Amino acid sequence: MKILMVCLGNICRSPIAEGVLRKMAKENSLDWIIDSAGTNGYHIGEAPHPFSQKICIQKGIDISQQRATLLLARHLEEYDLIYALAADVYQAIEKIGGTNAPMHKVKLFLSELHEGSTESVPDPWYGDESGYLPVYELIEKTCHKIIDKYH
Ligand code: 4NP
Repeated sequence: MKILMVCLGNICRSPIAEGVLRKMAKENSLDWIIDSAGTNGYHIGEAPHPFSQKICIQKGIDISQQRATLLLARHLEEYDLIYALAADVYQAIEKIGGTNAPMHKVKLFLSELHEGSTESVPDPWYGDESGYLPVYELIEKTCHKIIDKYH
């Protein structure tokens, strides 16, 4: 299975989701491919935010080699499952995908934690370091659910 995690900048939230789910998939001997992308291009080519890297390292996950990439319409064809980390990201994916986008493959990430949820993972970009641990924990809980559901 090929899974793509998507947020706005691809430097704060989706890199954590990529790193966490990849580690869990490996631990469960699942042959999944997990990547991430952003709906805006401001940070293309950059490594994850230092606070995202730091919280992941504290949890034993090295995401330092990830680089921000821009979501393209073709990614929606290439991946089996695309997770929008937030509601505004879902809307941006719809726009990038255009009229024939396979939106049946695109899900709100937190709908895997609570069925039917329209909640978003908070964007820690505008806050200080204290915002990153709750974001990490929310992502981790949700990734456990994804592993349980699809493994
Ligand atoms: P992310 O956070 O979507 O979780 O990577 C953001 C990073 C950068 C910006 C917005 C959100 N920005 O506007 O540059």
